[in-house]
Amino acid sequence: MTKMVLVLLIFSILGFWSNSVVRAEDAYKYFTWTVTYGTISPLGVPQQGILINGQFPGPKLDLVTNDNIILNLINKLDQPFLLTWNGIKQRKNSWQDGVLGTNCPIPPNSNYTYKFQTKDQIGSYTYFPSTLMHKAAGGFGVLNVYARSVIPVPYAKPAGDFSLLVGDWYKTSHKGLQLTLDSGKSLPFPGGILINGQGQSSFSCDQGKTYMFRISNIGLSTSFNFRIQGHKMKLVEVEGSNVLQNIYDSLDVHVGQSVSVLVTLDQPPKDYYIVASTRFTKTVLTTTAVLHYTNSQAPVSGPLPAGPADDILWSIDQARSYRWNLTSNAARPNPQGSFHYGSITPSRIIRLANSAPIINGKQRYAVNDVSYTNADTPLKLADYFNISGIFSLNSIQTVPSGGSPHLATSVMPSSHHEFIEIVFQNNENTMQSWHLDGYDFWVVGFGSGQWTQDSRKGYNLVDALTRHTTQVTPNFTFSYI
Ligand SMILES: *[C@@H]1O[C@H](CO)[C@@H](O)[C@H](O)[C@H]1NC(C)=O
Ligand SMILES: *[C@@H]1O[C@H](CO)[C@@H](O)[C@H](O)[C@H]1NC(C)=O
Ligand SMILES: *[C@@H]1O[C@H](CO)[C@@H](O)[C@H](O)[C@H]1NC(C)=O
Ligand SMILES: *[C@@H]1O[C@H](CO)[C@@H](O)[C@H](O)[C@H]1NC(C)=O
Repeated sequence: MTKMVLVLLIFSILGFWSNSVVRAEDAYKYFTWTVTYGTISPLGVPQQGILINGQFPGPKLDLVTNDNIILNLINKLDQPFLLTWNGIKQRKNSWQDGVLGTNCPIPPNSNYTYKFQTKDQIGSYTYFPSTLMHKAAGGFGVLNVYARSVIPVPYAKPAGDFSLLVGDWYKTSHKGLQLTLDSGKSLPFPGGILINGQGQSSFSCDQGKTYMFRISNIGLSTSFNFRIQGHKMKLVEVEGSNVLQNIYDSLDVHVGQSVSVLVTLDQPPKDYYIVASTRFTKTVLTTTAVLHYTNSQAPVSGPLPAGPADDILWSIDQARSYRWNLTSNAARPNPQGSFHYGSITPSRIIRLANSAPIINGKQRYAVNDVSYTNADTPLKLADYFNISGIFSLNSIQTVPSGGSPHLATSVMPSSHHEFIEIVFQNNENTMQSWHLDGYDFWVVGFGSGQWTQDSRKGYNLVDALTRHTTQVTPNFTFSYI
């Protein structure tokens, strides 16, 4: 839901970037994906899932920096369907990112060919359906962008590379969940957590070697903590940023986020638990997978490794420890070409406060009291053809307005190459994830309570990480540039 809201913000930022010429040497990769329903039983109960080419989760997209993707998606569902390529910056074709407002959903029994480029990107990402609660039924998968062979990465080549899609899962169908929300109720508590669509996956590795684990939160609403019994994790990459390589016992991963870690198999040869457990929930759901040493002499045993205390400050401290590696070789996300974001003065500040009002009997989410409604005409077409009455500029205030919650197709204008400071204020009691679609940003500050001018004193203006999705903890403000 935040995704739909945020498309408004990026619409005008990205809207005027022109088509640039695709370089001849960049590879073209072609895919044909067919989306169907199929019966899956990830929690032991048969239920309707959304499959891509018969698979749940969907096919893994292993791409290389600057690849051109030509992907024809054939929709065989009884509903319109739309995939989003989460974290792909879409510098050339911002309307291709598969969110309402810029992309029309693909009608049943139709196809649509996405064309996009992983321009100047590396990292661990995901794709997933962006509309109609389809993500609750599947249709998601791994999207990894590997560095080109001529570009060194800041770590030795791992002996193997695993992608883990971890997320909350509901036994209720996506249509059932939609009915729940439409009747004014909140999403129920999930039925469990899945790793790669299963209750029990196993990852086989050789003793003494080092492996990459790419961990993404593909769930709908719940943060999780991830850890491996007896093993440390070295964080190397977060949503396309090479980071200072700190060592962690466990990592909090919030909805929509991805992290990449290196794990060295430096323990006696047996099997070890991989654990993901929900964070900041009254009931803690836990799932396990297995780290299997190929020379293992014993199955998994012992108590599951304990997660951190249910402490939001612990989680914030961990988030603050994620820093950009300023000397590592990587494409910089800043279209202006500056690596020194701290020396840029943002032209203005936008403060966004979330709320969860009931409007017209439905559970809605609102930003500065405006709950976004999708227009039938894509916003970019309305803009291009000067069709008035489709969206309203400035209908959403740039600071929390204190007005009554209402519906609007609101668009916040900004200028090409403008630098904006955005502050998210979470007044809800639940963890929020904010995603800037088709774009990323520096997460410069985390503060408790309400934001004030003084909050700026705590900003990291040197080596903050750029990412596409960040958590905003209850009663905290998070600031971005
Ligand atoms: C895709 O749709 C077009 C019509 O828009 C149709 O001509 C074509 O056969 C379809 N392709 C596939 C693979 O279904
Ligand atoms: C940062 O990247 C450089 C260049 O690849 C690497 O040598 C260095 O170890 C990295 N620094 C940290 C603290 O991870
Ligand atoms: C839309 O309006 C602008 C400014 O008035 C004009 O330059 C442009 O040609 C119009 N576009 C179309 C497609 O009519
Ligand atoms: C947030 O602040 C409000 C008002 O001070 C308080 O009632 C609520 O418990 C706080 N929520 C959390 C999760 O700390």
